[in-house]
Amino acid sequence: MHKTVFVILILTCLFAGCNNSNQSAMNENNTDTSALNRKWWKEAIVYQIYPRSFKDNDGDGVGDLKGILSKLDYVKSLGIDVIWLNPIYSSPNGDNGYDISDYQNIMQQFGTMADFDALLKGMHDRGLKLVMDLVVNHSSDQHEWFKQSRSSRDNPYRNYYHWWPAEKGQPAHRYSFFDVNGEAWKYDSLTNAYYLHYFGDFQPDLNWENPKLREEIFNMMKFWFAKGVDGFRMDVIPFISKDTTFPPLPAEYNGDFIKYYAHGPHLHEYLQQMNKEALSKYDVMTVAEGIGLSTDDAHAIVDEDRHELNMLYHFEGVSLGYLPNQFKVPDPKGYDLLEFKNIYSKWDSVFENKGWGTIYLGNHDQPRMVTRWGNDSGEFRGLSSKMLTTFLMTMRATPYYYNGDELGMNNIKFDKIDDYRDVESLNMYKQIKDKGGDLQAFLNAQKISARDNSRTPFQWNNSSNAGFTTGKPWLKVNPNYKTVNVAAEEKDSNSCLNYFRKIVKLRKDNLVLVYGKYTLLDKENPQVYAYTRELNGKKILVLLNFSSKPATANINIDLTSSNLLIGNYASANNTTALRPYEAVVYELK
Ligand code: NOJ
Repeated sequence: MHKTVFVILILTCLFAGCNNSNQSAMNENNTDTSALNRKWWKEAIVYQIYPRSFKDNDGDGVGDLKGILSKLDYVKSLGIDVIWLNPIYSSPNGDNGYDISDYQNIMQQFGTMADFDALLKGMHDRGLKLVMDLVVNHSSDQHEWFKQSRSSRDNPYRNYYHWWPAEKGQPAHRYSFFDVNGEAWKYDSLTNAYYLHYFGDFQPDLNWENPKLREEIFNMMKFWFAKGVDGFRMDVIPFISKDTTFPPLPAEYNGDFIKYYAHGPHLHEYLQQMNKEALSKYDVMTVAEGIGLSTDDAHAIVDEDRHELNMLYHFEGVSLGYLPNQFKVPDPKGYDLLEFKNIYSKWDSVFENKGWGTIYLGNHDQPRMVTRWGNDSGEFRGLSSKMLTTFLMTMRATPYYYNGDELGMNNIKFDKIDDYRDVESLNMYKQIKDKGGDLQAFLNAQKISARDNSRTPFQWNNSSNAGFTTGKPWLKVNPNYKTVNVAAEEKDSNSCLNYFRKIVKLRKDNLVLVYGKYTLLDKENPQVYAYTRELNGKKILVLLNFSSKPATANINIDLTSSNLLIGNYASANNTTALRPYEAVVYELK
């Protein structure tokens, strides 16, 4: 190589960041982007795989690691960057892996550590990153720590969990999510004491106030980082710190246990310690399940100067449209788009100057996105599914996209309680039955809101069990797999699947869709969600009709010379009049 050319190359590398063109200070239009505080995890699209339901390799009816490995080329073909895997650790599966009995081992049904190593390699070979689930607010009651802790009051592991000696009387009530009676203290006669479990009684809460426990957790995290995992999604992490005097719920919380749980006295201190001891030593990403967090606490968690976590996902959006104080009973009037727009605009502004947001409409704890936020009947299933995908891929936040949503998979809507497998649905049913409540009304509501709706097996093709397993699937397959499946959608250029690939590429090719300023337009429009994204002179307009009726965006922008970047109808009219569930993205000139 000629000497001058070599020197120029070296200089270019030094100034633009040679080893990662994605992170360069110049964007695709040669504009300076150094002010953006670019990070790979801000520019990433996260694809969530629910391992139990993705692909079964050994025919036992349960998805496994080898199954995922066999489908990595498909995952790569989507254009996403990061895979989030729900828990794959040893577990008796009372809550599908969210009850861990050994943090440094693999669940037998899913495979072995060698399978894990091969899977991680398979991902890294394809340029995909892996984010694991970190479930450390509680463990399984089958974890060795709990077995020891239970065995006697002076066992060295006693303080790994929260115990209340019965001679002090009954502890003040704590609410439990999965307990049939809603009570989070369980009496254990072995040592005449109560232990705390915010979730099922088989999920005892770990005692983060004990420094030894914290050290164990940080070491465990380092074990996985040393293997090369690229980050953690942190399960109910806002709940880890507790006031161990366990007073009655302070009046200021007005009965809201979730808010109280998320406001423990040392939450930020423990996250900072985790950051210092483990996270700061690696180039990894972290995302908190931000349940119960106020916007202030949320901001504090992701403010870079405080050295806690990178991102969190809030619950305000996905809680919309349910009747208050009932168990996820959908409001018969549906949800209000004006409120929806307010919530997502508010959360955009929380991270406008500092920190970074996330955006999602579905995951393993939510029903299928198209059923809940779109319309899963007839032609509207595909259209509204693409419209929602357009929303997720054009907001200023890292998108978390749930497996199967790229196919437009919808709720299975079981008629009978016997079809459900989820501890949440089964315990709620028992609770309502014990109280003589309306079981049919509960089953009707579950058709919309139950978690098992999104956990049905992934639909690969139209062979039996949708190509998910050769055995009996652990949860029924949605009968629409005959038409809604990967093989069919691969062949159809207008499929949800191919639309997803296109819009993922659009986001990856346009930095403005990642970092650009977000401005809500036509705020009072009850049918249309309209906004612009702007960066360095580039301006993008997004128009989304959230309704099954034609609608017009009142935005006073002449679109005749605008450039259509993507739309979910075969052609677009360059007008602000939108067809049912129409989604269009224009570059404004
Ligand atoms: C949140 C998880 O996402 C959910 O699936 C689980 O049941 C609870 N946390 C308890 O771990």
